[in-house]
Amino acid sequence: MEIIIQPTPEAASAIAARMIARLLREKSDAVLGLATGSTPLLLYRELVRRKLDWSRVTTFNLDEYVGLAPDHPASYHCFMWENLFRQVNIAESNVHIPDGLAGDIPGFCQRYEEQIRAAGGIDWQLLGIGTDGHIGFNEPTSSLASRTRIKTLTQQTRADNARFFGGETAVPQHVITMGIGTIMEARQVVLMAFGQDKARAVAEAVEGPITAMNPASILQLHPVARIVLDEPAATLLRKADYYRWVYDNKPDWQKA
Ligand code: PGA
Repeated sequence: MEIIIQPTPEAASAIAARMIARLLREKSDAVLGLATGSTPLLLYRELVRRKLDWSRVTTFNLDEYVGLAPDHPASYHCFMWENLFRQVNIAESNVHIPDGLAGDIPGFCQRYEEQIRAAGGIDWQLLGIGTDGHIGFNEPTSSLASRTRIKTLTQQTRADNARFFGGETAVPQHVITMGIGTIMEARQVVLMAFGQDKARAVAEAVEGPITAMNPASILQLHPVARIVLDEPAATLLRKADYYRWVYDNKPDWQKA
């Protein structure tokens, strides 16, 4: 795991944007795994500003709320088109987001997995982290080997996301999410976290035991996982000074 601590969300997002820009230069038909929520907003803004060529890029989003139509303002379809896809030259047919209105949810989830495989697998997976340690919507106690499937949100996550719905009761109870096993198959994974509210989940994921109680902790087993944080999100890391030292002293060619 590489822990990258930056002074601000802007600086952290610029690093993630550079990683994607480099990947798209090297592999113009890269497959990106994308995330929603507050955390990736600055990254998406920076990607738009960079005017990269998305014409051959394929994307798979982590999750979607069950029961929300793609044009619902709080749907992740809406989020992605508004904050990224509409502003870059991606082909609509290359965009994949779980279908919140799927009639046969297990069948849909199986096809989503097949589509990821058929695309050659995910090259670069972006993740946020919930205050309860979730990645995608894999809540605590999710199987660490899970595949794309339906999940029930915790009360904590529904409370955290109430701001997008104008109240907790309006937050759907169920979601479709890529599984932890699905996420772990991506060739590179980047988890971003900003703000003091994420500090405990981040510290448990990075320095705690690998446990389904903090799904992000599975990233300790990923061969190429980067954790990109702002200072507040890093406040509970015991070895923060060491991570900073390592990053500052990397050979230039190895720096993200
Ligand atoms: P946030 O959500 O970026 O809105 O904090 C992250 C997550 O729940 O994975």
